[in-house]
Amino acid sequence: MFFDLPLPEIEETEIGMLHFMMSRAVFIYTFGCQMNVHDSEKMLGILSQEGYERAESAEDADLIIFNTCAIREKAEQKFYSQLGRAKALKRKQRDVKIAVAGCVAQESKAKIFARAPHVDFIIGPQNVHMIGDLVAGRNRASLTDDNRELASLDVASSRQSRIKAWVSVMYGCNNFCSYCIVPYTRGREVSRPSSSIVAEIRALAEEGYREVTLLGQNVNSYRSDLDFPQLLGRIDSLGVGRIRFVTSHPRDLSDELISAVAELPGVCEHIHLPIQSGSDRILSLMNRGYSYAQYLRKIEKIRQKMPEAGITADVIAGFPGETAQDHEATVRALREVEFDGIFAFQYSPRRGTKAAEMEGRVPDPEKSARLAEILKVQEEMTLRRNRALEGTIQEILIEGPSETDSSLLMGRTRSNKIVTIEDAGEAEGSVVSVRIERARLHSLAGARIDCEGLV
Ligand code: 5AD
Ligand code: SF4
Repeated sequence: MFFDLPLPEIEETEIGMLHFMMSRAVFIYTFGCQMNVHDSEKMLGILSQEGYERAESAEDADLIIFNTCAIREKAEQKFYSQLGRAKALKRKQRDVKIAVAGCVAQESKAKIFARAPHVDFIIGPQNVHMIGDLVAGRNRASLTDDNRELASLDVASSRQSRIKAWVSVMYGCNNFCSYCIVPYTRGREVSRPSSSIVAEIRALAEEGYREVTLLGQNVNSYRSDLDFPQLLGRIDSLGVGRIRFVTSHPRDLSDELISAVAELPGVCEHIHLPIQSGSDRILSLMNRGYSYAQYLRKIEKIRQKMPEAGITADVIAGFPGETAQDHEATVRALREVEFDGIFAFQYSPRRGTKAAEMEGRVPDPEKSARLAEILKVQEEMTLRRNRALEGTIQEILIEGPSETDSSLLMGRTRSNKIVTIEDAGEAEGSVVSVRIERARLHSLAGARIDCEGLV
């Protein structure tokens, strides 16, 4: 997923005792995951305190930030090509400042400064809270120190939405899946104290937010004075209607967590549980810490307690050494589990990770053929799961106009499915009961039902 998030900026001119705040503008290109989208919101929040406004486009900005993602080569390449374009812009507008943030900044600081002398600042993901100091010249131009303090978690964000908010609960990852660069770029796990999470969510509820998504690379290993199921229990009573969380690790998904999701009224019945592969041999090479049978057992437990839960996953095609049989095991797993949806990726070697040194590279055309098969089988499964909802009654939280047809409103079920309904003027953030009329691949068509229709 790629998001372009325009962000803010500042200029302060001192004349005698008078301070003129000249409005400055910042534009942020955000690549990659929700974590990055939220880091951009945090940087925007800090910069707005420094007087910056969001620019409509990079051309209108005097500060351009690239919030980069290093998880796969494609995201990294996309950043480098955008950075090339910014060079031309800097030639035209000499005083525009360019900052590179995120995981590529952390990983490739020297390379970026060498390849792109037009870059003014570099800031790693553990230092996003320092962006204000950096652009105001109160700190050195490059900040990629290992920062295990909690400062980057405790930042007032400038949020994209007025009804849905991301809230960081932990940072970093200790898992070292053999393909993954995240533990190297985002560092070790740190959990945020429950008191500051609760304070942030209480304030969001007061501002009228209707949904929070708790963010962490592996939320199941959250530990403060509370564990993660206890944290959910604590948040449930704070008055935001809906609580979601990403991402869960299959090894750490506990019975207590499944019960918390099933029993707490505010916690939505959706679990994102990356499977990565259906082959035990590959799961072991990936250092995932579970077998396919153990994974399946977790799915059974979820469905026993919550037959209506949405379950989604991530899958990697063409991991080193993956044979045709291993791939078939993944395809079989997709049919057996019947996920509601998946994110599937071709394996992308990342420098410094164990898998990048492994033998048995799968040729690119084979990787892409395997990915295509995975996506095709999953489409069939998604459609089957969506069709099973036809005729059911669902509660949806209205998010705004539908992206594909602005005469319709769009909302999500508790299980995280997109539903469109006729626009009868409901405000964003209202909760509407609908009957699902027709299932499509990417969304469901619903019709509002009267309260009397609900016995
Ligand atoms: N290549 C391909 N996919 C990857 N992911 C993480 N690292 C890689 C990589 N090197 C995927 C995993 C993870 C998701 C966020 O990105 O599926 O769950
Ligand atoms: Fe990467 Fe594995 Fe950590 Fe997820 S759990 S961020 S895939 S190392």
